Parts: sequence; structure tokens; C-alpha cells
Amino acid sequence: MVEKTLSLVKPDGVAGNHIGEILNLYEKEGLKIVALKMIKINKEFARQHYIDLKDKPFYQELVDFISSGPLVAMILEGEDAVNTVRRVNGATDPKEAAEGTIRNKYAKGKTDNTVHGSDSVEHAKREISMWFPEYLDSYLS
Ligand code: TYD
Repeated sequence: MVEKTLSLVKPDGVAGNHIGEILNLYEKEGLKIVALKMIKINKEFARQHYIDLKDKPFYQELVDFISSGPLVAMILEGEDAVNTVRRVNGATDPKEAAEGTIRNKYAKGKTDNTVHGSDSVEHAKREISMWFPEYLDSYLS
């Protein structure tokens, strides 16, 4: 199935100069970058993005981190895009991330883990409409 998913290069990935390499890894997997922007989000937006995790002990730390500096948000499209991005990103905890994955290469910890990828097609739709409201009216929709 051709799907769309949302990926973020988180503030640590931007600060570490890994944007280009990360985009390259996605493109090498055959994914198409169909929308892309760099922005710094505020805490309210961060809370909404991670609303499903609001009861987790690390929620506040996560909100603070994701809103701490510029990040790169993109929509990727391709066959099995949701799972492909999650495979390339690697496990949440970089200590458990497979060799060659983005988190294995660049992530420092479970919070500053360099990238985000939607975890289902349903969540991807919600996240795309949050991060790229303009996309819904564009020629791409
Ligand atoms: P999760 O959805 O479990 O992982 P993934 O990003 O691999 O889909 O968690 C979402 C984010 O929550 C994760 O990328 C970073 C943060 N997080 C922490 O800060 N501490 C933790 O212990 C966990 C499990 C996640």
C-alpha cells in the first residue's frame, strides 16, 4: 500500500548537522519527500503532538525537548511508508537500535533520539493535518 507518514528530524538531529544524511537514508529506501519545512514549535503544539503520552512520566521532558530548537518536519510517501520510516529510524532507545539505523548512528538517549515517525496510518493522518495544514489544500492532497 502506498502511504504517507510524518517524520521529524528532532532538535538534536538538526543541531548535530544530520539533516542531509537523514533525508538521504529515507530517499535511499525509495520514499518520496512530498512536503518539508524547518520550524521551532511552541510547548502547546508539542503537547498536542505527544498528547497520547500525556500520562507518561517523561511527558514534560519530551515536550520541553521537542520545543527546544528548530526541527525539520516532512511528509514521506511510498510503499509501506509508516513501517519503512520506523525501521530506518530504529528502536526508541538508541541502545537497542539496530546497526545502521538513524538512532543507532546519532541518538544520545530515549528523549533526544533524533527522529520521529508516525506509528500508524491513522496517526500519520492526524499528524500530517497538524504539522501541514496547508498541505490539505495543496495540489498534493
Ligand atoms: P514511543 O512512541 O514509545 O517511541 P517512538 O518514537 O519510537 O515511536 O515514544 C515516543 C517518544 O517519547 C520517543 O521518541 C521519545 C519519548 N520517550 C522518552 O522521552 N522516554 C521514554 O522512556 C520513552 C519510552 C519515550
